[in-house]
Order: sequence, then structure tokens, then C-alpha cells
Amino acid sequence: MSMIRSVLRGMGHALPTRVVENAEFEEWIDTSDAWIKSRSGIERRHFAADGQTTSDLATDAARAALEDAGMTAETVDAIIVATSTPDTTFPSVATFVQGNLGMKTGFAFDVQAVCAGFVFALSNADAMIKSGQAKRVLVIGAETFSRIMNWEDRSTCVLFGDGAGAVVLEAGEGDGTAQDAGILATDLNSDGSYRDLLYVDGGVSKTQTTGVLVMQGKEVFRHAVDKLAKTAEAALEKAGLSDADVDWVVPHQANLRIIKATATKMNVPMDRVVVTVQDHGNTSAASIPLALSVAKAEGKFAPGQLLVMEAIGGGLAWGAVVLRL
Ligand code: ACO
Repeated sequence: MSMIRSVLRGMGHALPTRVVENAEFEEWIDTSDAWIKSRSGIERRHFAADGQTTSDLATDAARAALEDAGMTAETVDAIIVATSTPDTTFPSVATFVQGNLGMKTGFAFDVQAVCAGFVFALSNADAMIKSGQAKRVLVIGAETFSRIMNWEDRSTCVLFGDGAGAVVLEAGEGDGTAQDAGILATDLNSDGSYRDLLYVDGGVSKTQTTGVLVMQGKEVFRHAVDKLAKTAEAALEKAGLSDADVDWVVPHQANLRIIKATATKMNVPMDRVVVTVQDHGNTSAASIPLALSVAKAEGKFAPGQLLVMEAIGGGLAWGAVVLRL
């Protein structure tokens, strides 16, 4: 039976110019390149320049994705930005991007599910495309986590980075089978009873400050390993597929040990897992679209391949998207 599918037409990314190697942290906190690498897999990350905002990075990533898709901004119906580090409290980063792209039509809004934000945004875009609300949607993950770091907390400040990634989704027609191109299934979850495991200790309503990130790393790690393979497998099952059908896992890039443990649970060998955490650190909602765009630029993907994206972050919120190229 024919049905509307959200087909991936283009990918792009943007990174700040400034690269910060692990060794730089040794200058002001008690840490080492060896510790950071062995515990997280991270070797370097990018930090935004003074005055460079989340929407600047998001706009550059959006332009790259539109160019990759061979499309112009005025043909896009909607922009969804996943971010926890907006330029301002309001309006949304998505409307900044819309303005920067010169779009006078369509609609734009942000989604906030911390590191799982891109997966939640993709799922929203898919629902809007399937319901006929939009035909072309720019879905962007963009962050400047360097703005919410506690630079004296060595257990968090070495882990995060800044960047943006974007994709263009377009309505296409499929047969309603797992062989269709486009998003085949999504799986979203959250459990607010875990909100104290990972949070920012400030905000508009509570403190009228921005605050800094606080994380119980070990606990988050434990939940990540438990929940990521489960959500990926739940999404695959909804699509009528299994681990064995997966060509590429594109995981949230938080920690190489989490990525490896999840791949092991899914029985997917590491040569079919996209890994960029060594170069970007954890860029929260930007990490999956960044990884997608880098993998595409490296020539990793082929038409018809099956991708599984999975992520977990503050909330806790977690989820997965199954997509065929
Ligand atoms: N350099 C040197 N030593 C350090 C550092 C550092 N940068 N940070 C912590 N340590 C020390 C700790 O103080 C501790 O010392 P102690 O035993 O004397 O107390 C020791 O190293 C071991 O610390 P652990 O917390 O046990 O280290 P672990 O192996 O668990 O790794 C890490 C910590 C990397 C934070 C890990 O727990 C992790 O990756 N957690 C998950 C993070 C994550 O995935 N977040 C995802 C979502 S993020 C989002 O949604 C925004």
C-alpha cells in the first residue's frame, strides 16, 4: 500500500574554527590527555569563538545541507532546530535560522530533548511530513555547550564541544514496506524521575541565570548502556527489521565506551558504526547530524543502506530512528 515517507535528501555540518586538544585542559585542571582518551575516546573538540552563536552554526549547517540536496531555502516548508543552548531565551534558534536564510514563508521552532534532541526533532518532522503539514523540512541539531560548562569540574568540562549538523527531509512515496527509502520507524522515551542525573543548574524561571551543566557521569553511563540498544531494537522491530539488517549505526557521540557497548549488545561490528567522538567530543543534539554529514563526506554511505540513529541525554530522554537512504 503506498504511503508517504520522509526521505533524506541532503546533509551538512558546521564546526567552529577553534580546535581544543585534550592537552589544553592540562594547563588549568588536574587531568591528562591519556585519562580523557581512555575514559571517553575524545581527543579534541571545537569551541565557538566569542560572539559566535548556536544559530550561526545552525545556519551554516543548514546552508550546507540545502546545497547537498540541490535545494533553495524558499522551497522549505519548516525548520526544526534541536538545541539546549539557544542564542536567547526566545525567540527560537529556528526563527534566527529562518531569518538568516531569508525565508519569509513556512514555520520554524525548536525542540529540546538535550542529547536526544535530534532524534526527537526527526520524529516530529516525520510526523508532520506524513500528516501533510509539510513537504520539505530542515532538521538541525546545533549547540554551543562550551557556554554552559563549569570549567572547574574536570569530570564534565573535558567532554563537550560545539557544532551543528543539518538534514533535509522531503516527502516521497513508498510502498509501505521496510524496503522503502526514508524514515521507517521511530521510538521515543523519557523518564523525568531521572532528571537530577544530568541537568543545568540555572534557568529563566528558577534562577534567572544560565547555569552550568551538572552530571552524575557514572549513572548516566549505566542508563545509556542499558537503554540505547533497547530503543534501537524497538525502532527496528516497529519497522519489521532486526539488528542483522543494519548497515550503519549512527549513535549519539558521548563516549566511545558507550558506543562500543551498545554496538556489542546489538551484535553490530564497530566497522559499521559511525564514530566521530574523537574529533568533536559530545556536541549534544548536534552529534548525530554532524556524524551523518562527516560519514557522508567520507563516502561511507550508499543508496538503499539502512541506518539506525540512537541517543540518550538529560531528562532522561532517549530514542532511535530507523532510516533507509
Ligand atoms: N581527568 C582525570 N581524572 C578525572 C577526570 C578528568 N577529566 N574526571 C574525573 N576524574 C576522576 C574522578 O574524580 C574519579 O576519581 P576518584 O576515583 O578518585 O573519585 C576517577 O577519575 C574515575 O571517575 P569515574 O566517574 O569513575 O570515571 P568513568 O570511567 O565513569 O568516566 C565519564 C567518567 C567519562 C564522565 C563517564 O561516566 C561518562 O561518559 N558518562 C556518560 C556521559 C554521557 O554519556 N552523557 C550523555 C548525555 S550528555 C547530555 O545529555 C547533555
